[in-house]
Amino acid sequence: MADAGRPLSLVALISGRGSNLKAILDAIDAGELDAGVSAVISTRADAPGLEHARRAGADTLALDAADYPDRDTYDRALQGLIDRFAPDLVVLAGFMRILSAGFVRHYRERLINIHPSLLPALRGLHTHQRALDAGLTEHGASVHFVTEELDSGPVIIQVRVPVLDDDTAATLATRVLQQEHRLYVQALQLLASGEVDWQDERLCYHGQPLHQPLQMHTETSENRQCAQDSF
Ligand code: GRF
Repeated sequence: MADAGRPLSLVALISGRGSNLKAILDAIDAGELDAGVSAVISTRADAPGLEHARRAGADTLALDAADYPDRDTYDRALQGLIDRFAPDLVVLAGFMRILSAGFVRHYRERLINIHPSLLPALRGLHTHQRALDAGLTEHGASVHFVTEELDSGPVIIQVRVPVLDDDTAATLATRVLQQEHRLYVQALQLLASGEVDWQDERLCYHGQPLHQPLQMHTETSENRQCAQDSF
């Protein structure tokens, strides 16, 4: 990942609000995350999240799919932009496009995403409504490496959020999103510190294969430290 002693260099890809991006930028600013965001690239020039990036002094770029004939051409242009910054990691933060296999292969072991569910449950869209429809009592979010199959790469860390009796998709989404902000920062710090690493096709935690995702404890948990699930 990053060279020892050097902050993790990031390029973030967004499409909209950018609240996860803001959480990452704020954590860097507060000295809680040993990283730097060199550029933020959006699928839309009017994405509100770009403003967070500008304020933090990151380069901002927009790449509109309407200007490209197909997915592969778009992804090659995107790759060209990202590679100018030579990031250690490419961070998907509400990037609303399916990425081509070639793009994902190019950034193998350097591409991460946050997904609002306890993967492997509820891959894809509308996870909060689907959690309610399925009568789940627990929902949450996961940060994972991206592989060619949608929402299926190795999960680094998850946070669990109880589903309340009177939850709507909107109230559940709000509570999950609050936890996402802490989760993404924590996942990135695990990578920045080298505690979590993906080597030789295996996700490792302190050098040992990570068979289950790490679990982030929420504010209400007795133990606020990041802890491992069963191995
Ligand atoms: C988050 O819920 C994230 O899990 C999903 O897209 C949403 C992005 O929100 N991938 P924001 O743009 O970071 O506010």
